[in-house]
Amino acid sequence: MAKRTTAELWEKQDLGVGDRRGLYDAVAATIGARRVLYPGSYVDIAPSFHFPAVTYVDVDKRAKAFFADVDGVAAIVADNDGPPDASVTFLHADYTDPLDLDAEAFDLLVSLYAGFVSEHCAHHLRIGGTLLVNSSHGDAAMASIDRRLELTGVVISRDETYSVDTGGLERFMIPKRDQAITVESLHASGRGVAYTTSPFAYLFTRRR
Ligand SMILES: C[S@@+](CC[C@H](N)C(=O)[O-])C[C@H]1O[C@@H](n2cnc3c(N)ncnc32)[C@H](O)[C@@H]1O
Repeated sequence: MAKRTTAELWEKQDLGVGDRRGLYDAVAATIGARRVLYPGSYVDIAPSFHFPAVTYVDVDKRAKAFFADVDGVAAIVADNDGPPDASVTFLHADYTDPLDLDAEAFDLLVSLYAGFVSEHCAHHLRIGGTLLVNSSHGDAAMASIDRRLELTGVVISRDETYSVDTGGLERFMIPKRDQAITVESLHASGRGVAYTTSPFAYLFTRRR
């Protein structure tokens, strides 16, 4: 059983961000990843409801305490029909520092509301692996100018029901205003670019 603080942190996360099961469900159905890296995860344990081996990374002390309750986290995963023997690893680390992880070791990299994860961690993604990224904090824009990455899908959300679309991608990532998007401009603004069409998130495939 989860400790009270673990259960409370998860309850707050689950209510706060909305039901993420459908998001990871839609992504899992599309790409079938096994090894997942999630820098800036906080306590979003929902990927472990779908993927067998997830490495979470966060600097936050509450996240550290949450993942230290190994039995509690396993109970939350089991209660949500996660894979039996799901491997949950937590690194209490700053993802902008080199992480003690191999290059190209992951099938899926998750970047949600946590800064420029792709810039610092895409090298951990295998060639052919997928980046799931939203536009908050500018990381989707950062991915769009990363020569290693190609846009291969978008995640659409309607009433917390998620689906992946892999066609008609030229409709996406068109900035509302004429602007040069560069690494420097994104660092300077630290914000997402406003696009004419806004899906919940984007899927990029690592090509090189
Ligand atoms: C707004 S929360 C988002 C949490 C989760 N991704 C979600 O979508 O619910 C951002 C998290 O990223 C973490 N974070 C931000 N920068 C980080 C860094 N450089 N290294 C590790 N964690 C970081 C913060 O500690 C925080 O827990």
